Amino acid sequence: MLRIAHVSDLHVLSPAGVEWRRILFNKRITGHAHLVMRRSRVYRREFLLTVLAQAAARADQIVVTGDITNLSLEREYRAARALLEDIARTTEVTVVPGNHDIYLPAILRERDFVRHFHPFLRSDLPELARNLQAGRYPCVKLRGPAALIALASAVPRPPFVSAGFLGGEQLAALQAVLAHPEVARRTPVLLIHHPPVDHRPRLLRLRDGLTDEAAFRRSVAGLARGLVLYGHIHARERRTLPTATGALDAISASGGALEDPRAAIRAGFNLYGIGDDGAIASVEAWMIDESGRAMMRAAIADRRQSP
Ligand SMILES: [Fe+2]
Ligand SMILES: [Fe+2]
Repeated sequence: MLRIAHVSDLHVLSPAGVEWRRILFNKRITGHAHLVMRRSRVYRREFLLTVLAQAAARADQIVVTGDITNLSLEREYRAARALLEDIARTTEVTVVPGNHDIYLPAILRERDFVRHFHPFLRSDLPELARNLQAGRYPCVKLRGPAALIALASAVPRPPFVSAGFLGGEQLAALQAVLAHPEVARRTPVLLIHHPPVDHRPRLLRLRDGLTDEAAFRRSVAGLARGLVLYGHIHARERRTLPTATGALDAISASGGALEDPRAAIRAGFNLYGIGDDGAIASVEAWMIDESGRAMMRAAIADRRQSP
């Protein structure tokens, strides 16, 4: 049995606060204002440390589905990298970028994401990756019965827009990855920040969804089973992504550091078991308990019947 722990949306803040000259006059100022108004109380570093330690203790692999930093600040990147390096000493880590990790065009240009997180992006099929600036994606890790396939959907956007985009080049590379015999004989576990199943009106999807969701679905149409793990919505839910020959389970994790009275949102991680035969043997979730120091079992909202 391969055990995969799924954490998301860590939104690691700089321990030394923000440098004003780096946030004035760009999109970060709106993100920082949002944090000050609403979020500073709700992202709890001690929750995140508990979540990461407990996830590492229970799993063979840890996958992080984006928004690892909050404003793509260098100090946030360094703090996040230190946290992930710490758990990677015992449990392998794989990451994908979220919109908060590619917050500005300059972050993409200067390749900040891959510069900091390349230790978590060593692909077994590097020849099939495309040289996207966020990093060389798809990043593939063949591990026992599973093929982890990490995708980059984060692109810089203007203020108040956080929509994702995979692009034709990356989706063509994904199809080549899925056709590779070492991938085809395993259960695919796709990692993406933006939700791959989104039935909201088009305007909302253009604001904060995956804008090429339909093209993504076409790229995975040949898969009869597998997982698509995502984040971005800061809540646990499970949906079905129908394909031509079967269906994929699309499952999100809550934020890794969020303090919230609502159980669907409170910090936690999901844990998936993939049997040696490739079957998805278990899906469960854990969240921080009322004391804030231990973890308890959590529910994943079941939206598989949703239209
Ligand atoms: Fe997020
Ligand atoms: Fe996000």
